[in-house]
Amino acid sequence: MTERFPLAVLASGRGSNLQALIDAQRAGTLPIDIVLVAGDKQQALALRRAEEAGIPTLALDPKTYPDRAAFDTDLFTRVAAYRPRLIVLAGFMRILNAAVLAPWAGRIINIHPSLLPKYRGLHTHRRALEAGDAVHGSSVHYVTAELDGGPMIAQVQMPILPGDTDETLAERLLPHEHRLLVAVLAHIAAARIALHGTDVSLDGRVLSSPLRLREDGVLAA
Ligand code: GRF
Repeated sequence: MTERFPLAVLASGRGSNLQALIDAQRAGTLPIDIVLVAGDKQQALALRRAEEAGIPTLALDPKTYPDRAAFDTDLFTRVAAYRPRLIVLAGFMRILNAAVLAPWAGRIINIHPSLLPKYRGLHTHRRALEAGDAVHGSSVHYVTAELDGGPMIAQVQMPILPGDTDETLAERLLPHEHRLLVAVLAHIAAARIALHGTDVSLDGRVLSSPLRLREDGVLAA
């Protein structure tokens, strides 16, 4: 059996992306070991999903720390103790400071519901609609201290349809996000995707644009 790739997931909310990872792991299609699910909200559904799956959880309350840096430092110290090789931000709704991120360069990724560099931050679905975009999507990128601004790994696209609202867009995008995250993790676990400085490579070749998830599930350059 292949060795499973240990990763930690940070999540603040619903945790459907986490669930997609758990399901793929269970189905035997993703050789990962989720060693910890951590977050900043004790009530988050993501933590319940983790408990249900028998994954260790950690909830830290930011209000009990003197400042943001103290929270970040404690969170990352505790996460590191589980020895993940990668941290996955999957709906983690906090901005992290540069000092805690530095040691994790190339080993922390985020999934964001827009075709970055468009629409960093919040309300991405509404902003895509308001801009009259024909296409929407989701991106997975390495995390840096710049919000939603780190080196891009891969994207999935889908059309915006007449009559779409924020809600319909978000709902239709979600399954695509799940497929994207699983596909990227399969590649990272197999050491096929890596970060070198600010360059992302697939099989040793530097990408000039993000990989694109095709309908058939293949991540294409
Ligand atoms: C997803 O849309 C993801 O792109 C964004 O937050 C949402 C998380 O959803 N970062 P869930 O909590 O995984 O269901």
